[in-house]
Amino acid sequence: MTILVTGGLGFIGTNFILGHLASGGDGVVDLDLATYAGNPANLSHLPDGEHLLVRGDVCDRALADRLLAEHRPRAVVHLAAESHVDRSISGPAAFVQTNIVGTFTLLEAAKAHWESLDGVGRDAFRFLYVSTDEVYGSLGPDDPPFTERSPCAPNSPYSASKAAGDHLARSYFKTYGFPAMTTHCSNNYGPYQFPEKLIPLMIINAIAEKPLPVYGDGRQVRDWIHVEDHARALSLVLERGAPGETYNVGGRSERANMEVLEGICTVLDETAPRAGGLRHIDLAVHVADRPGHDRRYAVDSTKIEEELGFYPSYSFPDGLEAAVCWYRTNSRWVESVTSGEYRDWLKRHYGMGG
Ligand code: NAD
Ligand code: TYD
Repeated sequence: MTILVTGGLGFIGTNFILGHLASGGDGVVDLDLATYAGNPANLSHLPDGEHLLVRGDVCDRALADRLLAEHRPRAVVHLAAESHVDRSISGPAAFVQTNIVGTFTLLEAAKAHWESLDGVGRDAFRFLYVSTDEVYGSLGPDDPPFTERSPCAPNSPYSASKAAGDHLARSYFKTYGFPAMTTHCSNNYGPYQFPEKLIPLMIINAIAEKPLPVYGDGRQVRDWIHVEDHARALSLVLERGAPGETYNVGGRSERANMEVLEGICTVLDETAPRAGGLRHIDLAVHVADRPGHDRRYAVDSTKIEEELGFYPSYSFPDGLEAAVCWYRTNSRWVESVTSGEYRDWLKRHYGMGG
């Protein structure tokens, strides 16, 4: 048996595939364009029988048809996306293309494949669309967390493009009975995250004693989940989720950005102190706020807890300490992803030398 994963060279895809294989899961065909965010080295140690990398675009219908016909996967886990809010503000076209057209293309190809199956294979087939809590928009400080019934109110081109995928997946279930399921997860952190996102960016800059750019007042709140917990939730939904359903996945760890930064800096002060008794947090600088910056995200995960028995296993302090340790230990991985394009991004976005 095989599953088709898209975006397996990215942060969550890599962790999902490693977790899936470690728990005895079937082989993975991984369709990934290897953009700046995808790192072929992440999974290059795996044999082809476990992880077959196919470099290609999710917008390529002929390629999706060929992979589905050749490998006859029992499921598709669709993670491939443009995923960084700041890049969606400066260049939304790629988000519309990959996240909307790509999701549509894959749904069409997977539906045609599913229609070609008979009996048991058709009943067992699943399509898991990995969406985000950002589709719900922003919460006020005292609002209850988003549930699966909260209205869709995306505020960035990124979250709008992901929300379009939600609507398409929903419509394929309602209209065609196609067994699509959707997850809405909160902010992930952990190994293999491209250092344009808050936590790895801050860890890497703090280690190098470079400025730590805090947008606005730094009081924006996110609900942080360790990526291995998210990967486990995806496996549970894949194996036991119900077609047509959506599941929120949260970490029960709401933190303001400044608290996250202080957590990272405290771990580094203890494990890699700066010379002269300087503190890492003194590297923090407040920079211009992100346009349309969502103030707070948090999801209510009661449904996945009660229906599928999912609970996050990492506490935020333990997960953060492990993440700091991972980026310190894996300096070669960091070097491999922070060359060329990454330096251009830092310069363009922050006016920062690489
Ligand atoms: P990522 O940016 O680290 O990885 C994205 C992967 O998709 C990369 O390997 C890239 O090469 C690939 N890709 C991009 N465009 C492609 C295309 N046109 N065709 C094929 N492959 C392409 O992203 P991530 O953080 O791992 O997120 C994975 C998924 O999870 C995304 O759909 C994202 O919206 C969702 N998500 C992310 C988070 C988070 O905190 N990172 C939270 C909730 C949901
Ligand atoms: P990010 O990791 O980009 O995730 P998202 O915007 O999808 O939640 O950002 C997390 C939070 O950190 C968000 O409130 C923006 C903030 N942030 C900074 O303050 N500075 C930075 O350099 C980055 C990348 C993010």
